[in-house]
Amino acid sequence: MMNAKKITLLSGDGIGPEVSKEGEKLLTVIESRFDYKFEIVKKDFGGIAIDKHGLPLPEDTLNACKKSDAVLLAAIGGPKYDTLPRAKRPETGLLSLRAGLNTFANLRPIMLFDPLLDSSTIKREILSGTDLIVVRELTGGLYFGKPKGIEVRNGEKVGFNTMIYTESEIKRIANVAFEIAGKRKKKITSIDKANVLDVSQLWRDVVIEVSKDYKDVTLEHLYIDNAAMQLIKNPGQFDVILAENLFGDILSDEGAMLTGSIGMLPSASTGDGSLPSIYEPVHGSAPDIAGKNLANPIAMILSIAMMFKYSFNDKKVYDTILKSVKSILNEGYRTKDIAQDKCKLVGTIEMGDLICNQISATNLRLSPNN
Ligand code: IPM
Ligand code: MG
Repeated sequence: MMNAKKITLLSGDGIGPEVSKEGEKLLTVIESRFDYKFEIVKKDFGGIAIDKHGLPLPEDTLNACKKSDAVLLAAIGGPKYDTLPRAKRPETGLLSLRAGLNTFANLRPIMLFDPLLDSSTIKREILSGTDLIVVRELTGGLYFGKPKGIEVRNGEKVGFNTMIYTESEIKRIANVAFEIAGKRKKKITSIDKANVLDVSQLWRDVVIEVSKDYKDVTLEHLYIDNAAMQLIKNPGQFDVILAENLFGDILSDEGAMLTGSIGMLPSASTGDGSLPSIYEPVHGSAPDIAGKNLANPIAMILSIAMMFKYSFNDKKVYDTILKSVKSILNEGYRTKDIAQDKCKLVGTIEMGDLICNQISATNLRLSPNN
């Protein structure tokens, strides 16, 4: 049976449009190899939406996202927008999109590919065996808490944000992490700063409560500062890292460096299933390399793989994409961010072509559902 899927594509800014093109190419190849028909709806989001419509998340864009089966988002932002009032910045649009689709769970797998073990700044021996996923709370905490602002008090400016979590917000993200851990190595490391912060004490108490429903999963707690150290000291000790919004933001960038480049890291932002999920490379818009055919499209390609796994429940396409990326890396092809001595250096377009050709060349038409 033909699977018709509507995907809203938000190419955004900087290298966003370039990596999106490679994503579209991949979807076309998947259509030709598997029983899918994609309707790709392109909408303005981020800086480009500010330029054209005066705001980062136009209503029409959010509505299109809500009506799709999944949202594919490349990257947003750039120096041009950094001086705008906060409400008009691309990043505020991203937070509104996450809130608008209620994607409270951000999944950031730190996948290591063997051929890239020497691309990381961390020694090969320390990396070996690393396979972890950061489960980051995405619609609460310091990013959204009120009160917030900058105002004048006693004759001087003060700036403030609030890290706030309700019990139910902690419970629902903890449940996601425990479910994922149950299907992996069955270990959760919950990150907090319970030695100092009240909100972290509640986080820890609620996570312990939730853990009682998952007897087969081991739960550990680490303070955020220690976790940041452990992640580069001994990354192999982690399976699922569960963290609030800002702590997860920081740890996922740190974790990205284990893989060799942030250009390798995909993500999925999901909610309770009533609205579509967002698939997005973890890297930013990298304005310094935009338009130069230098960006690594692999994070985008792996984000699409995650879309098949989580939104379309299709492990086969997920595995096919992953295998193809692995084999191209095994053959020595590298974009500049992951380049090594004696590698075959290629640009964005060539890397996309190589991975797509690999998928076309694989003989998979014989699936029982075809
Ligand atoms: C991320 C990014 C965003 C965040 C920015 C662009 C708002 O760093 O997705 O990790 O802080 O969440
Ligand atoms: Mg970040």
